[in-house]
Amino acid sequence: MMKKYYIETYGCEMNKSDSLDIARSFDRRGYVQVFDPAEADVVVINTCAVREHAENRIYGRLGYYRNLVKRKKENAETPPVIVLAGCLAQKRGRGIVDNFPEVSVVAGTYYFCEIPHLVEEACEKVEPVIRIDFSREKLLDKSGESLINREAENFSVWVPIIRGCSNFCSYCIVPYLRGPEISRPSGEIIEEIKRLAERGVVEVKLLGQNVNAYGKDSGDISFAELLTRINEIDGIEWIRFLTSHPKDFAEESIKRIASLDKVCRHIHLPLQSGSNRILKLMNRKYTVERYLELVDFIRDSIPECSITTDIIVGFPGEEEVDFEETLKIIHEVKFDDAFTYRYSERPFTKAASIKEKVDPSVAARRLEVLIEEQRKISHEKNVEEIGKRGKALVERTSKKNKNEYLCKMEDGRMVIVPTDKNPGEFIEVKVTGIVGNTLVGEEIGLKIENEVHCRTS
Ligand code: SAH
Ligand code: SF4
Ligand code: F3S
Repeated sequence: MMKKYYIETYGCEMNKSDSLDIARSFDRRGYVQVFDPAEADVVVINTCAVREHAENRIYGRLGYYRNLVKRKKENAETPPVIVLAGCLAQKRGRGIVDNFPEVSVVAGTYYFCEIPHLVEEACEKVEPVIRIDFSREKLLDKSGESLINREAENFSVWVPIIRGCSNFCSYCIVPYLRGPEISRPSGEIIEEIKRLAERGVVEVKLLGQNVNAYGKDSGDISFAELLTRINEIDGIEWIRFLTSHPKDFAEESIKRIASLDKVCRHIHLPLQSGSNRILKLMNRKYTVERYLELVDFIRDSIPECSITTDIIVGFPGEEEVDFEETLKIIHEVKFDDAFTYRYSERPFTKAASIKEKVDPSVAARRLEVLIEEQRKISHEKNVEEIGKRGKALVERTSKKNKNEYLCKMEDGRMVIVPTDKNPGEFIEVKVTGIVGNTLVGEEIGLKIENEVHCRTS
């Protein structure tokens, strides 16, 4: 009987991409994937610990699995092997097993592709199997092998180009959980994308905590050069990347992006705060003035480029004036969209030792105000889109009407369009209006195509 595995994933796109690697390593060992945890022989929970809330959700899920294991045992069925993987596994290590003895394998962030082996080891032992060291070999060898063999399951695929983070923003736990920046060899990335293109992938999304640092650790080609080489791959039509750090995003890269036809006109550039004092405390290594200079340069060089951001409110020591500066900047830049967060204290980090905490109710109010202000800006920006035309990638059917599709424009905006094209195909779209917060549009070019067809037939 083939063994069945189930994976659930929390956290960022990197984690989602890592879950694909986990799946591939199970597939290679002859397991089959199931989508109901109650049917599985192995359950993998790939976790996040970036904020306390993310962590608490996972404790909630572990409570669910505690009951599942208990129920199975009561019914004399074999309970699944429970694997805790990823960032929370890395953070808690053995500690998690003390709280949740149902967990048999704790696999840190360098061990994604080793999980099937660890499960087999756990089945032979009574003791839990715990691997949380930063073993460079495990990360590079296994993930390389797995990534290059990954099947294209989709027309759009995330491709990690740099793992880890060496920035140590003072609020952030990621460098402690993911280790230092390690770039994947450019040859391997290019090879992988060529294979993906051969299998029908049209869009690649390059991933890293700080993509602009690509190649700096290994002496490989620069990020701009990597983009240039990917731009040459036949079959790939769109290239996206996430995330850029303002301190490493130079004018040189922006100029190159402007010159590459496949690189999409969308840049996610986390600001974090509009106050220079707070940016310094955050160890972000840029000023608001430098950030604005970059925004101007992007807009001058790449017209129509959308700019999105991340912002944290309630960072220790943040005064009302600092928060007002953040509000001022979001109005000045007019971000197309923003991911907004309330500061969450994380162990190991420098910010955790800053004494002047912001009262949680004050932080909550600031977040509310920020969300509301950004909502208005995003709405205004969306209204400006009405009447515009452009290429869009058909992604999936809309929940409300199966003849309508959610399509992604080059600048990352989603627009609902009735079309008979399939997911993975490109269409020309004209934006015609907004319903709620979502753009709606119509497919253009169809009629003309038919006319041409009639004339020639
Ligand atoms: N490497 C990326 C994203 C990292 S995590 C970057 O530097 O932009 C995604 C976002 O989570 C961050 O941009 C930040 O806004 C937020 N974040 C990280 N740690 C946080 C914390 N302790 N509390 C609240 N938000 C946090
Ligand atoms: Fe965290 Fe900063 Fe690294 Fe992003 S760049 S992962 S916010 S330390
Ligand atoms: Fe979370 Fe780890 Fe990503 S902490 S945001 S899953 S890098």
